[in-house]
Parts: sequence; structure tokens; C-alpha cells
Amino acid sequence: MKLEEYLEKWIRGEAIEIVEYLAAAILAEETGYPEIAQALRKIALEEAEHGARALVLSGKIKDLKSFLKERLECEKKAAEERHEEARHHDEPWKTVFEYTARDEERHARIIEGLLRKLEKS
Ligand SMILES: [Fe+2]
Ligand SMILES: [Fe+2]
Repeated sequence: MKLEEYLEKWIRGEAIEIVEYLAAAILAEETGYPEIAQALRKIALEEAEHGARALVLSGKIKDLKSFLKERLECEKKAAEERHEEARHHDEPWKTVFEYTARDEERHARIIEGLLRKLEKS
């Protein structure tokens, strides 16, 4: 397999693993296994580091400023979409859509602050 092909597959694989480990961690917390949850969260973070390393090395994130600008738009769009979904679904989805939408808005505000900081330096 060509390196570029492998990197694509690897990074996507790590990304889905992160979500799955965190999902299992939530399940562990909800079913009374806090230590298992903690270990799963640690694994998820390590998987994130693996994917991130591969992403940096492959040169996919060229510069910080354009990355942050791109993410800012994605976070805003995700928030809008999630609020919209919340309007069309009942519980428990409504709450999940709404609170994650508010998280995306907060991410956008953080990124705006980071961009201001970058522009000053
Ligand atoms: Fe990994
Ligand atoms: Fe986000």
C-alpha cells in the first residue's frame, strides 16, 4: 500500500477509534465502572495522538492560521446544524443536539480568541 493511502486509512481508523473508546468510557461510567472509563479515556487520548502525529507528518495541516480559520467556520456550521436538528427531534436527542451545539459555539469563540492572539504576535 502506498504511504499516502496508508496514512489516510490510518488517520481515519484512529479517529473512529477515539469516538468508540470514548463511547465505551461513557457506558462504563454509566454502568458503575469508573476505573475502566478512566483507562478507556486514556487509550482514546493516545489514539488521538497517533492520528495527530500522522496528520502533522503528512503535512495535511499547513499553517495554524488557515487551519483555525477553517475550523472556525466548521464549528459555527456544526452548531447551526445541531440547533436545527434539536428542533426536529424529541428527547433524549433534543438535549444532546442542544448541548453539543453549545459546545461547538464555545469552540468557535475559543478559536476566535486564538486567531486574535495569533494576529497580534
Ligand atoms: Fe493507535
Ligand atoms: Fe467542536
